[in-house]
Amino acid sequence: MNAASANKNRVIVDPASIPVSLRWLGDSSGQLELLDQTLLPTQQRWIVCHTVDLLIEAIQSLRVRGAPAIGIAGAYGVAVAAAEARRDKLLPPAARAHVQARAEQLAAARPTAVNLRWAVQRTVAVLGQLSASDSQDVMCTQLLAEARAIHEEDRRLCTAICRYGADALVAILSATSATGLLTHCNTGALATGGAGTALGAITTAWQRGERFEVFVDETRPLFQGSRLTAWELAQHSIPVTVLVDSAAGQLLQSGRIAACIVGADRITACGDVANKIGTYSLALLAAAHGVPFFVAAPSSTFDLSIASGNCIPIEQRSPQEVLSPLGVPAAPAGTQAYNPAFDITPAHLIRAIITEHGMIEPVNGQSVAAVLKVGFKVGFKAGLKAGPAVLSESQLNEQIV
Ligand code: MRU
Repeated sequence: MNAASANKNRVIVDPASIPVSLRWLGDSSGQLELLDQTLLPTQQRWIVCHTVDLLIEAIQSLRVRGAPAIGIAGAYGVAVAAAEARRDKLLPPAARAHVQARAEQLAAARPTAVNLRWAVQRTVAVLGQLSASDSQDVMCTQLLAEARAIHEEDRRLCTAICRYGADALVAILSATSATGLLTHCNTGALATGGAGTALGAITTAWQRGERFEVFVDETRPLFQGSRLTAWELAQHSIPVTVLVDSAAGQLLQSGRIAACIVGADRITACGDVANKIGTYSLALLAAAHGVPFFVAAPSSTFDLSIASGNCIPIEQRSPQEVLSPLGVPAAPAGTQAYNPAFDITPAHLIRAIITEHGMIEPVNGQSVAAVLKVGFKVGFKAGLKAGPAVLSESQLNEQIV
């Protein structure tokens, strides 16, 4: 690769241009703030989570949402729990018991995205490195440091995923006359600690100068596509077309879509993917029309303890979200609703999974293990240029602008 094309493939993202979904202000006496995503796109309001109860409410009502973002929120939540213990002047053994109990409540706040439990467990594990004589101040500082590390890591993982994802999308677009990309739900900066995953790949390809049409499923019943993804694309000045979820088949049939790309909430050892409800239907439609279907996700979204998708717990949400979407009654009183938040897309419907380590393709147990555990490069047939399969710390850092 010559210097010019190497530069073109660098991710050039102005951090100031990326919306932020959550932040911790100050030191361990500071505060966790969330951009309330239930109010977007009409209002941008930050809420302060002084207590774990407030944070759990925010996670469950989707004020903060998206697998990586709720993981980061959960990690900061452990620091909030430590601050609660310090406020209540609990002595060290009681303070640790309090943090552990609150951590378990946080981890259980939503069941499907594995990032939440993973990040909470990683943060709370720091307690095991403290000595019995360490003060509550030390505990608070150390837990916050771990949460910040998880947040920063996710930002860097997003950068790498955006780069690989943009490579894949550009390769696909150059190999077909179709000019559209179709995505589902919201997988951008709002859903992560960085520039996003699937949506980040789209915005990165655009920032490289590639031009295409972006189609977004509105993503019923909570409209993460039309409220959040369309809003993020507008922040990047990228034109967007929203469609009702049930129009996806007709759009794919029209031949305008070069590729579908979505995120993930949990990926099993064999490559089955849990993601926002409607992802499975979209993958079936893409397969029926010969359109490549990509999933983009960090390694923190993989759950190698689960062999196949039917073992993933699926969150069931309130019938009101279906019967009264956005608070507007849409069914007669007394109607029941079926409202699973996620579905499972089997590995065989997925062209490739894009991770911070590179592409997993074909998607099966061997290739998942190879990329995640061994770091062996599984090549991308459509032309991803050879790069390191597993990015070292310095290589990841080098990609951050
Ligand atoms: O219910 P949500 O809005 O949290 O669901 C989010 C999704 O399904 C996303 O696609 C997934 O978490 C990936 S976010 C990078």
